[in-house]
Amino acid sequence: MRKPIIAGNWKMNLTTKDAVELVTALKRDLADVTTVDIIVCPVFTVLDTVNDVIMDTNIGLGGQNLYWENSGAFTGEISASMLKDVGAEYVIIGHSERRQFFGETNETVNKKIKAAQAQGLTAIVCVGEVLEERESGKTQSVVQTQCEGSFAGLSADEMKQLIIAYEPVWAIGTGKTATPQQAQEVHAFIRAWLKQQFSDDVAQTVRIQYGGSVKPGNIKELMTQEDIDGALVGGASLKSASFVDIIKNC
Ligand code: 13P
Repeated sequence: MRKPIIAGNWKMNLTTKDAVELVTALKRDLADVTTVDIIVCPVFTVLDTVNDVIMDTNIGLGGQNLYWENSGAFTGEISASMLKDVGAEYVIIGHSERRQFFGETNETVNKKIKAAQAQGLTAIVCVGEVLEERESGKTQSVVQTQCEGSFAGLSADEMKQLIIAYEPVWAIGTGKTATPQQAQEVHAFIRAWLKQQFSDDVAQTVRIQYGGSVKPGNIKELMTQEDIDGALVGGASLKSASFVDIIKNC
């Protein structure tokens, strides 16, 4: 049985005061939740402060990106050990916005996963097709290529340490959620791929989150799908009321 996991990807939002206010409310309102893993992924500049608020609670901390080298002359970058240093246990890798705007490729995603795992961080690896790819029937081949490239060289044990987030790009920030059936279809495809490439054990262990316009009103139906194990939430994770409702409804 895979434990549901809901993560809030704050993207480039919230400065210190608002971030502290948000996690203080989450800490209060989610204190009794034990059946769902809860994670927040703030911007780098508030990780340390947010960590102080959620330390020793049921809320985990994640970064939104990292660089694969450990330290050195890489201006503007942050390493896995630096994320660990401020209390992060998770890191989002290969988000579609990074692929779209910052030149992230399956190869860089692969290096980042390995760097994250070398420091004991749990990688949340994003895959998903753009609208044109879906409309031309290429969803499965796009997702398969992303999985093949992103997970190249990983062992079955390493695969079991990570989380996959299926985020159809056309559903991100658009208000257009994939239907539960559309999402389930791709989740089942990813799970079948994991079984074929690694093992049934890997396929049954890896948690696959759905992301793209997840709201309190649609989480329940998404979670009824067999292969949907949680959500990566953008916009609705920025307000405590909606993030709390998503977690309670799931
Ligand atoms: P929205 O929930 O705002 O659509 O964003 C989804 C997302 O990109 C999470 O990583």
